[in-house]
Amino acid sequence: MKQASHSPDLTRLSRHIPRTPSIGSTTVTDEDHVHLSFGFAAPELFPLATLEQAAGEAIRTHGREALQYSGAPGPDDIVKWIEQRAHHNGLDVDSAHVLVTYGATQGLSLAAQLLLEPEDEVWTEAPTFFSALQAFRLSGAVIRAFPLEADGLNVELLEQALQEARATERPLPKLLYTMPTYHNPGGVTLSVAKRHRLIELAREYHFYVLEDDAYGELNFTGQPWPTLYSLAPERVIYLNTFSKIIAPGLRLGWMIAHPELIQRLRILMLGGSTGVFTQEIVAALLQNIDMNEHLERLRTHYRQQRDVMAAAIDRHLGDAVRYVLPEGGFFLWISFREVIDTTELQQRAFTYGVSIVDGRSFYPQRDVGHQLRLCFSYCNSEQIEKGIARLARAYTDYVAEQEAVQLNTLEYHNRV
Ligand SMILES: Cc1ncc(COP(=O)(O)O)c(C=O)c1O
Repeated sequence: MKQASHSPDLTRLSRHIPRTPSIGSTTVTDEDHVHLSFGFAAPELFPLATLEQAAGEAIRTHGREALQYSGAPGPDDIVKWIEQRAHHNGLDVDSAHVLVTYGATQGLSLAAQLLLEPEDEVWTEAPTFFSALQAFRLSGAVIRAFPLEADGLNVELLEQALQEARATERPLPKLLYTMPTYHNPGGVTLSVAKRHRLIELAREYHFYVLEDDAYGELNFTGQPWPTLYSLAPERVIYLNTFSKIIAPGLRLGWMIAHPELIQRLRILMLGGSTGVFTQEIVAALLQNIDMNEHLERLRTHYRQQRDVMAAAIDRHLGDAVRYVLPEGGFFLWISFREVIDTTELQQRAFTYGVSIVDGRSFYPQRDVGHQLRLCFSYCNSEQIEKGIARLARAYTDYVAEQEAVQLNTLEYHNRV
């Protein structure tokens, strides 16, 4: 008798399933290994005591409802908090504008589901957040990317592309995805003038803007940035998250958009609302924490970590690299002056005891190879220093090896 195969038939999977897994997990167990690849929050800044108290309170006061599908007050309290925070940041919203999600990542997927059909155009920055690329690939949309500059997306090139598409009757984008403030991975921020121009273009060419503001609160300079949503609430779907300001393990984020859009997004949230129990805990936490004080603590800490990393890069890599000093967020994006392949460097650096993420992972076509992302949020100062020193050694050895190969090839060609 023929044995049934125990392997799944992978040819039956959706053709939209991305071939590359998401970045951000690792199996390294060596304690000395330095993880500059993780976009993780600093674990020492999790408000553990307040969370423990909040979790106890959630169970004691509303445990029976909070462990049901619905019925506990936490979800409404969270929406009220989001409304208040939005007002504090200059957004005019009420509860009809808000949808609480399983992290900003679910917001990305929901926005893609709401707007994109196979072959639709979605335009992004290059580089951009890799999970957004995954969400867009899953939708079957065509991704087109526009370069980042020191002051954010190159809006001029975007405008030229829009004009060209219109003139030649090529497809215009349905959606533009952007991280205007403290970009991941670019670390840059979109200037105010460009924000206004981008919104004018969205209105003129009728595309939606998906504004990912995951790092907006982690501002190191105190300079406020107007959100794109505040400039055009009818054109912008706004994403934010508790991951960077409380803890990512909560898996809690939110979307802000026009109530007509929120209503439809809610329909896409199969399974009802986001985890009620987690929301009950976070609602209790938000009541017991002084958020402004907590945010100041985060900003001070991450600013220091950024400075430690920038100083280490200057010391160990010096003129070999260029970067824009980020004014907020988690990431420092470096470009090597030499034409090198950071995918290869990443592998070598790993064997030297440091993880980084190669630049290719952030480009839709994986076609730009001389950049890489470093994260200063997760490691302590000592680890950052050690990690950058290891990266610099890996780079020096890598370049020396490349040069030796080139020299050998040259000698060989001269001989034959
Ligand atoms: C730009 C950006 N958006 C969204 C997310 C995901 O946030 P969440 O943890 O809420 O899903 C991240 C996290 O790395 C991010 O960098």
